[in-house]
Amino acid sequence: MKLVAPSILSADFANLERDIKAIAAAGADWVHVDVMDGHFVPNLTIGAPVVKALKRVSPLPLDVHLMIETPEKYIEEFIKAGADWLTIHVEACDDVPGTLKRIRELGAKAGITLRPGTPLVDILPFLEQVDLVLVMTVEPGFGGQSFMDDQVAKISRLRKEIDRRGLKVLIEVDGGVNDQTVDRCREADVLVAGSYVFKNDLRQAIQSLKK
Ligand code: DX5
Ligand code: ZN
Repeated sequence: MKLVAPSILSADFANLERDIKAIAAAGADWVHVDVMDGHFVPNLTIGAPVVKALKRVSPLPLDVHLMIETPEKYIEEFIKAGADWLTIHVEACDDVPGTLKRIRELGAKAGITLRPGTPLVDILPFLEQVDLVLVMTVEPGFGGQSFMDDQVAKISRLRKEIDRRGLKVLIEVDGGVNDQTVDRCREADVLVAGSYVFKNDLRQAIQSLKK
C-alpha cells in the first residue's frame, strides 16, 4: 500500500493544527511541507519557525520539500525545527553530495528532487546517498496544477535503476496527483497531494490514493 503525504499548501493556514490532525485521523501517513523562497520558485510560503510549530502538534512525520536556493545554508535550521524527511532540489545546490551527507549526519532522512525539465541522469550519481527521490509532476511553485504525463517515464526509469542497484530508496511523486492520475503513479511509494485531498472528503480522497 502506498504512503500518502497531503501537502499543507492547500490546507487552511489559519488552522494548520486542526487540518494536520484531521488528515492524520483520515489515514494520511506524512505531512508534506512545501517551502518556497521567491527565488528558486516565484512564490513564498513558510520557513523553519512554522515547521517548528507544526512539529509540536503533528502526530505524523514532517516531509519537508525545500524549493529554495542554496539549501545547504538552511538544512540545519529545518532539521532542528523538526523535519523528519528533508528534500533538496538538485538544481538549487552547489554541493549536492556534501549537503545530502550533512542531512543524514543531522539525523534526518535525505531526499533529492528535480524539476520536470531536468533529466533523471542529473540525480543518478546521488542515489546511494538518499532515502527518497521526489519526482515532480508539475513545475514547482504552486498547488493545483495539472499532472504532467511526460514525467511518468521518469518514474519507471528511476524504479528500474533503484531495483537494479538493490537500493531501498523511496520514490515520491508530487504535483497534480488525484483519483484520475493516481494510476500513472503505480511505481511510486509515496504520493503527495494537496488540492485533491483538501478540496474533497479527506478520508475518501486519501483512501482513493492508497488503493
Ligand atoms: C508544488 C508543490 C506541491 C503542491 C502539490 O510546487 O511541491 O507539493 O503543493 O499540490 P497539488 O496536489 O495541488 O498539485
Ligand atoms: Zn512539494
